[in-house]
Amino acid sequence: MSDIWQTLADHRATTKDTPLAALFDQDAQRFAGFSAEADGLLMDYSKTALDGTARDLLLELAHRCDLQGKIDAMMSGAKINTTEGRAVLHTALRAPADAVIEVDGENVVPGIHEVLTRMGGFATALRDGSYSTKSCVAFTDVVNIGIGGSDLGPVMATLALAPYHDGPACHFVSNVDGAHIHDVLAGLNPETTLIVIASKTFTTIETMTNAQTAITWLQASLGEDVSGHLAAVSTAMDKTAAMGIPDARVFGFADWVGGRYSLWGPIGLPIMIAVGPENFRAFLDGAAAMDAHFRAAPLAENLPALLGLIGIWHNNICGYGSRAMLPYDQRLARLPAYLQQLDMESNGKSVDLDGAPLPRASGPVVWGEPGTNGQHAFYQLLHQGTQVVPTEFLIAATGHEPDLAHQHNLLKANCLAQSEALMLGRSYEEAHSIAEGRGFTGAEAERMAGHLSFPGNRPSITLAYPKLTPFVFGQIVALYEHRVFTEGAIWGINSFDQWGVELGKELATRLLPMVEGEDASAKDASTRGLLAKLAT
Ligand code: F6P
Repeated sequence: MSDIWQTLADHRATTKDTPLAALFDQDAQRFAGFSAEADGLLMDYSKTALDGTARDLLLELAHRCDLQGKIDAMMSGAKINTTEGRAVLHTALRAPADAVIEVDGENVVPGIHEVLTRMGGFATALRDGSYSTKSCVAFTDVVNIGIGGSDLGPVMATLALAPYHDGPACHFVSNVDGAHIHDVLAGLNPETTLIVIASKTFTTIETMTNAQTAITWLQASLGEDVSGHLAAVSTAMDKTAAMGIPDARVFGFADWVGGRYSLWGPIGLPIMIAVGPENFRAFLDGAAAMDAHFRAAPLAENLPALLGLIGIWHNNICGYGSRAMLPYDQRLARLPAYLQQLDMESNGKSVDLDGAPLPRASGPVVWGEPGTNGQHAFYQLLHQGTQVVPTEFLIAATGHEPDLAHQHNLLKANCLAQSEALMLGRSYEEAHSIAEGRGFTGAEAERMAGHLSFPGNRPSITLAYPKLTPFVFGQIVALYEHRVFTEGAIWGINSFDQWGVELGKELATRLLPMVEGEDASAKDASTRGLLAKLAT
């Protein structure tokens, strides 16, 4: 196994000085040869330094790591989350009703569809007003209280699918900072507001605290019994009952759905309320199409597998430690935040499945903002900074605003211009003649040429899709899930646990009494100093 990593490194050493533009000069078919498509979703990776040899080596790496076998194991319900003894079956949440996927010998698909049907019934009743308040008024607003995987997916999706949003207004509260719930509830009428409490475990301190605040807010206007204004989404039915939420409005899911992979099921309830069950199904169908592609397409044409392997190339072979997600799609504004959890909570690990230290880097830092806004903020570093950051662009052929097609054309031109500029850069000679054109001469022209030069050869990938429909959005999110899976499979890590979030939670619990005035003398000097400064 180590040989292939070395062979990849050696190949990189011999090819790294070849400009990206030269790869296009050498191969007139490079775009066709270094792009792949699945159900209308195109991934262009021709503007990376990958050549045929590098790709073959990466595919060989995938074979040696048994990527195909690992995909099959995940999708057939094997307990691949070995530190928690769980299957990993978010793909089952979007499977068609006639699929058979077994966990411990039991087909889980009928149960998933039963809950989807219940969610659909409740969402429809809310949307058409047949589920209404005590005074028979339709609910106008839904507040989802959750955090992490119980928040980021629904937040991202309701924005992404805004053109399909014809249900009640949806709001989201996640942060334990009281400012968040205060500001969200301030604009709402308790009489027409439904609160959805979303927590896989129903123990998360932020969510439980905000839920109690919301219940108190409802009670202040509506009296003691506010159960008609509450719904819950969880794996812990005993705890939802203890909070007084009637079973009829509790939507359960199994522990084999990871929090950051959960928007496809009950955690997606706010999405379904917003856009309706049919659009929600189209979203699931898009993801299911990507699942089928990931499982069946040869790895050389397999979008998620290729995306993952290019991630490995950039991270482990080229040494680029972060990646920027740049959706040229304002409605994907929360995609980078969603991907931060998906990617960094899944693959931010230092040990392999056996608990042994990894021999190489695992998950990169993931960040980003929509274009064109980012262009006026951090793109300076992308173009001329000392670090190379691989970038990933997303762009639709058409927007949802036919009257504003000229603005969409501007968006497309900017997106394509950025990947071109990152690839081509600008030579010193060209920069020098630009400086001269601006009136600089001699040493001044030379000095300015340094500032006006761009190194270029900065790799990018572009995802191009027809339009951001629910189906396409489902494809895109599932693509990234499976890329994270691919990278984790190559590194041999468990992408489905998150022990790294535990320590901070434990320390916060122990610190709370000290924040409230108890003795902190056992703490380090910094923590004591800060406690003193923050005392009220
Ligand atoms: O703290 C991390 C985490 O456990 C995430 O993995 C999860 O998505 C989030 O907290 C919320 O958890 P829950 O849905 O159980 O409230």
